[in-house]
Amino acid sequence: MIRQETIQTVIETARIEEVVGDFVSLKKRGANMWGNCPFHNEKTPSFSVSPSKGIYKCFGCGKAGTAVNFIMEVEKITFPEAIRFLARKYQIDVEEERQTEEQIQAGNERESLLQVTAFAQKYFTEQLLNTDEGKSVGLSYFRERGITDESIAKFQLGYCNNSWDDFTKHALAEGYKLDFLDKTGLSIVKPDEKKQFDRFRGRVMFPILNLTGRVIGFGGRIMTTDKNKPKYVNSPESEIYNKSHTLYGIFQAKSAIVSKDNCFLVEGYTDVISLHQSGIHNVVASSGTSLTNDQIKLINRFTQNITILYDGDYAGIKASFRGIDMILEQGMNVKIVLFPDGEDPDSFARKHRSQEVIEFIEKESSDFITFKTNLLLGESGKDPIKRANLIKEIVHSISLIPDKIIRQVYIRECSSLLSIEELILNTEVNKLLRQKFIKENSLDQQSVPEQQIVIPPEPQKQNEPSDVENQEREIIRLLLTYGHTDIFFEHEDEFKQMAEVPVKVALFIVNDLSNDEITFENPVYQFIYEAYQTSLKEETVIDQQFFLHHPESVVSTMAAELLLTRYEVSAAGWEKHNIFVKEEPSRLKQVVMRSLLAMKARKVEQMLDEIQHKLRNATDDEESMNLLQQFQTLKTISMQIQSQELGRVVTK
Ligand code: CTP
Ligand code: MN
Repeated sequence: MIRQETIQTVIETARIEEVVGDFVSLKKRGANMWGNCPFHNEKTPSFSVSPSKGIYKCFGCGKAGTAVNFIMEVEKITFPEAIRFLARKYQIDVEEERQTEEQIQAGNERESLLQVTAFAQKYFTEQLLNTDEGKSVGLSYFRERGITDESIAKFQLGYCNNSWDDFTKHALAEGYKLDFLDKTGLSIVKPDEKKQFDRFRGRVMFPILNLTGRVIGFGGRIMTTDKNKPKYVNSPESEIYNKSHTLYGIFQAKSAIVSKDNCFLVEGYTDVISLHQSGIHNVVASSGTSLTNDQIKLINRFTQNITILYDGDYAGIKASFRGIDMILEQGMNVKIVLFPDGEDPDSFARKHRSQEVIEFIEKESSDFITFKTNLLLGESGKDPIKRANLIKEIVHSISLIPDKIIRQVYIRECSSLLSIEELILNTEVNKLLRQKFIKENSLDQQSVPEQQIVIPPEPQKQNEPSDVENQEREIIRLLLTYGHTDIFFEHEDEFKQMAEVPVKVALFIVNDLSNDEITFENPVYQFIYEAYQTSLKEETVIDQQFFLHHPESVVSTMAAELLLTRYEVSAAGWEKHNIFVKEEPSRLKQVVMRSLLAMKARKVEQMLDEIQHKLRNATDDEESMNLLQQFQTLKTISMQIQSQELGRVVTK
């Protein structure tokens, strides 16, 4: 257990824009900052951060919360883990209360795996730099390849001894469990033979880091020329390592990607390292596998622009074609640089001075149309059929672009490059779009076997909050936003003079609702309401911070969501709505009373319904009379409420 004081220090120190900024590229607009939401796929930023309030909210998917919630959400970790995470970031010592043996046992498996991989990385680096074998085999290999000491440190490179189980033995002796060594793939464990050995023996090690710089896996390169063994061995997928979501080098590259507003995409570990040595830092590798949509989305958090740097051989060209289409489909911009046949970015960078590498990339970058045209036209020449195929190829890529305007720009370019009328290209693109549409829509129906068709429970109701939800939400929003603000009531004092008496909004709301014994259906709202009720009774102070930093994340995220409204955070362009928000404080009394009335009116209607229902089923006269009486009373109240509401509308 982390001490409460530590939690407090972390919460006070963590700045939302810094914490979020490690994951999302944020741009200032108005009082707030905006970026692409890391929780859902989007092309225009609807994710906002309010530095002054210390909270974030996405207006696309609705996710909201504090810095702690954000870390819990992106890293998929628990509250205490998020506190530890932020403590590491801000170099705050975490003071722990003594844990019970059970708590230690139950300690999060993910964290245990991360501790094993962190240990392994340190061990491999130690082997590389300070053992005879490491130095003579691993280090001399890196030296020969021109990898500097600085790169070794920056990429935390290492070496795994070429012995059966040196590493595994050492890790076990240090107290790391065999189960975790197995799950991270560092050791290969044979269950029946009760044998275990090092997966990476005799290889130089490239640790793979996640966005926050923690080691989640490894790639190990062979040192011999044995054709029967794979050149690279990689960690298997595990709870901490998901290959298709990961890009090698992203941790070291992310801030450069943001500042350059572009990301270079290469194939291999050594390409990343060599380009860094040439002064190019905004580079990541897909590590040999074909590019995935999740990897593109990862880049999309930092920039909209990708430049593919691949070998000029057949495989490289094919891979870049696939990559181009995937990137275009996600609405991002793509450029391509092909290296001379037989060269990869690593070998090229080693042969040229850093300025030459930078200039080469700049000069050779072409957009996908020029790239495809040059490549395909080169081999097809003036052959009309080949030429037609090339046009089809390009039209296909253009049709994948989701944005109509960008599509149009490319059609224009293609038109002038290949001297074809824009109109014809347009027709072709539209034809493809139509086909795609038909295919997608009919596919949906066909792909579900009839027995499996499930009728979803009224989706509209799920998406659109009900009246009850809206009313309850509005009252809780007022409590949180204006709880400590005074509203004024006219009051006749003892000298029969009219005086204005201030009443705190929280007190007014709580009194009003408790008088009518009204409760909230949403349990989180009820919790917040009761917290105010208790604090008023006990005369303690409760405020936004209490809810924003509540350890139950349903409470803290709800508070954040309610405290950040689109109107308020929006910059120019929302003036029309802003007027209402700016006016809200001055019309506060009206707003509060109106919301309370609306909620009560609904409650009364609900009760009326219930009584009517009972009346229909009533068996004896006495019961019916009773119910009728209740009905009358409620009806009168309902009419009073309605007239009050009406009055307000008229006098406003
Ligand atoms: N790769 C892999 N497994 C292999 C071969 C390659 O995982 N058996 C991945 C590695 O991430 C490698 C990338 O694919 O970095 C590119 O492969 P390749 O071009 O063959 O290797 P290089 O990075 O050029 O490595 P080197 O220069 O050391 O030969
Ligand atoms: Mn290479």
